Amino acid sequence: MKTLRAFGVIAACVAAGVGLYVDSRAGGAEEAWATRTVYACDHHKVVVVEGVRSDEKLSPRKAQQVADLLTDLMRYCNAEVKARIATNDLITLSVNGMPYVQYVPGSEPPIELVRGKSDYGDRDRAIWKAELDKLVKEGDRLFHSDEVGTNGIACAMCHPHASNTHPETYPKFQIEMKKVALLRDMVNWCIENPLEGTKLAADDPKMRALEAYILSQRSGVKMEAGKH
Ligand code: HEC
Repeated sequence: MKTLRAFGVIAACVAAGVGLYVDSRAGGAEEAWATRTVYACDHHKVVVVEGVRSDEKLSPRKAQQVADLLTDLMRYCNAEVKARIATNDLITLSVNGMPYVQYVPGSEPPIELVRGKSDYGDRDRAIWKAELDKLVKEGDRLFHSDEVGTNGIACAMCHPHASNTHPETYPKFQIEMKKVALLRDMVNWCIENPLEGTKLAADDPKMRALEAYILSQRSGVKMEAGKH
């Protein structure tokens, strides 16, 4: 099978964005083709589109095809899946490093290779919760301390239990700022006045913790971006 013979070469060349096609009919003569590689957000799924250069935009039809395929493959959780879309739209898959097989989107791929490895369990959920709790706890501490300011005032003195912070209404237009504010803009607004502190960068660990705390206090509240 062509796909099998070409597999090793493809694996080596995918990073460069160019695959080498070993044409069996031409007695092993090599012919270069362009490929564009798209990774799913979990980095465990990758789609190689043949016939499109690595610096070339996918056509809307191909882009939708790739998006649909990645979404479809996300059903398989932690499995490493490499998919290839040939120029004639034929799709082949390699699951966990196994040889490529033909695949019809939505149908069952070699599922026995995927199950078992895939499901997150109670232990994972406990770890996720502990990580979140840690961040929220740090935010709670900062919210109740004078550390983000300079004049001894803490957020909680005006917003006990994060009351009246209304994170669910962001983003929204803030008249004082004359622009659409994100929650973090309001956090910084209050840090500067009344706390007389210095603005925090969006990825500052203190900003992340404050956002986590404020949002966690409003769990279950309906999202209403822009509400005044
Ligand atoms: C002196 C009292 C005071 C302190 C201290 C204070 N705020 Fe505020 N905060 C306010 C007031 C008053 C408003 C309402 C402003 C408005 O409606 O635009 C507000 C608005 C907000 C909002 C937006 C609320 C909404 O309904 O849109 C957020 C978020 C917020 N504060 C976070 C914080 C954080 C975080 C801190 C600590 C860094 C803090 N505040 C400290 C008085 C305070």
